[in-house]
Amino acid sequence: MPEVFKLGFTSFARLRGVLVVFCGDNLKFGPATKKALAPVEQVVRRAAAADRFTGKSGSTLDIVAPQDLDLPRLVVIGTGKETEPKSRDIVKLGGTAMGKVPAAATQATIFAEFAAGALKPEEAADLALGVRLRAYSFDRYKTKRKEGEERADKVEIHVACANPGAADKASARATGLADGVVLARDLINEPANVLYPGEFARRASGLAKLGVNVEVFDVPAMRKLGMGALLGVGQGSVHDSRLVVMRWNGGKRGVEPVAFIGKGVCFDTGGISIKPAQGMEDMKGDMAGAACVVGLMHALAARKAKVNAVGAIGLVENMPDGKAQRPGDIVKTMSGQTIEIINTDAEGRLVLADVLHYVNKRFKPKFMINLATLTGAIIVALGQEYAGLFSNDDKLVEQLNKAGEETGERVWRMPLGPEYDKMIDSKFADMKNTGGRWAGSITAAQLLQRFVDKTPWAHLDIAGTALGSPQTDINKSWSSGWGVRLLERLVADYYER
Ligand code: BES
Ligand code: MN
Ligand code: ZN
Repeated sequence: MPEVFKLGFTSFARLRGVLVVFCGDNLKFGPATKKALAPVEQVVRRAAAADRFTGKSGSTLDIVAPQDLDLPRLVVIGTGKETEPKSRDIVKLGGTAMGKVPAAATQATIFAEFAAGALKPEEAADLALGVRLRAYSFDRYKTKRKEGEERADKVEIHVACANPGAADKASARATGLADGVVLARDLINEPANVLYPGEFARRASGLAKLGVNVEVFDVPAMRKLGMGALLGVGQGSVHDSRLVVMRWNGGKRGVEPVAFIGKGVCFDTGGISIKPAQGMEDMKGDMAGAACVVGLMHALAARKAKVNAVGAIGLVENMPDGKAQRPGDIVKTMSGQTIEIINTDAEGRLVLADVLHYVNKRFKPKFMINLATLTGAIIVALGQEYAGLFSNDDKLVEQLNKAGEETGERVWRMPLGPEYDKMIDSKFADMKNTGGRWAGSITAAQLLQRFVDKTPWAHLDIAGTALGSPQTDINKSWSSGWGVRLLERLVADYYER
């Protein structure tokens, strides 16, 4: 990110810096765009003909220093047929637009108008959200820049629209949401020598300034609660484990909350069942579920969402050590059930088992949704496009499906059932922490389900969607912040009074 990044709304009269506009099929411009481009109409037509640009969705036309307009650059982005673009399409276009602004540019104006006319205030806000997400980069540890990678330290982006005042109001939600995604991305990208459980808890505590109630439980406090599974995972690390409980009470007093639970393994070496060296550095992101919960709580609190929401994250570091837990160990969970450790690398489910039970018992929530980079097997099954969804509640599944389609953070339901559940029965304890090589993502989910009782629950396995993300129009970073937009949408559409 540039040192200073300003993003605001303005009217169509303001033409400053790099100008980005949209056009539909057959070079069809909206009225305000047409008016602004009037002095260069012929230039645009000739450039389009030379480039065979017709406004097809996804295509772009770049004109440097167009004659008769005092602009360093004019960019035209095709939107094609424009049949009722969804929120996710507009966010994506904001990302595409920002991607066309050269890194060295200090100012740009993006016209929030399609061929069909000016975008509504909420749509202009979505466009700005895409701009923010695209502009994100994590480079706080880079002390030098290569030649040719120079960038402006100060960048101002103006989104031009029909009613800047209304767009500004509508953007309150989008701004908090963008801040939430950025917060999640920062936490995930941060290396594990900086972001260990104590430091993560400290950063989550920062939500207090938005009116979120934050409680931090240390090891003795968790021992008192009987969280033997979570504590077993963290016992080999010099960094003590933490449990963080965040509460946002924007709903009616006394109404039971919705609850979000995150896996926060700040680094996952695998423990005594140690992982191979290749790619292990990615395991600094094994706290992406927890990061998403923090980003979500930020987004909800920032726009004072009318909902009672609980966020709970189990923070540990999974290390091999003389004090680390061993395969064969049996731990007692807070729920009273016992777990035999077969593989110390199947640690996320152990952490979640205690946090799910704790949240269920203390808050009796309307539902619980947990997020976790839980299994490599989900990447084999679904790649990076869909997160794995496991649930005991069809209504929640339906709502998550819809929110996924709206935001583009999509989920795919996987099966659960007694046949899979049997696979984690243990010779020595109530259950074991792995079920063998087959159906690895499902048996992991079955273990979680043993700690949720009858409460409506969904588990999102985000190992594929959260890390090493494909480079998209709205993300050029290693971490995506996946899930913040999905769950913010779920709450907004179904759970606010
Ligand atoms: N954190 C990993 C899963 C993971 C893998 C996340 C790749 C992101 C990218 C998890 O703790 C793990 O190690 N799972 C094991 C489970 C196995 C030991 C049953 C796995 O998937 O191999
Ligand atoms: Mn692991
Ligand atoms: Zn893990």
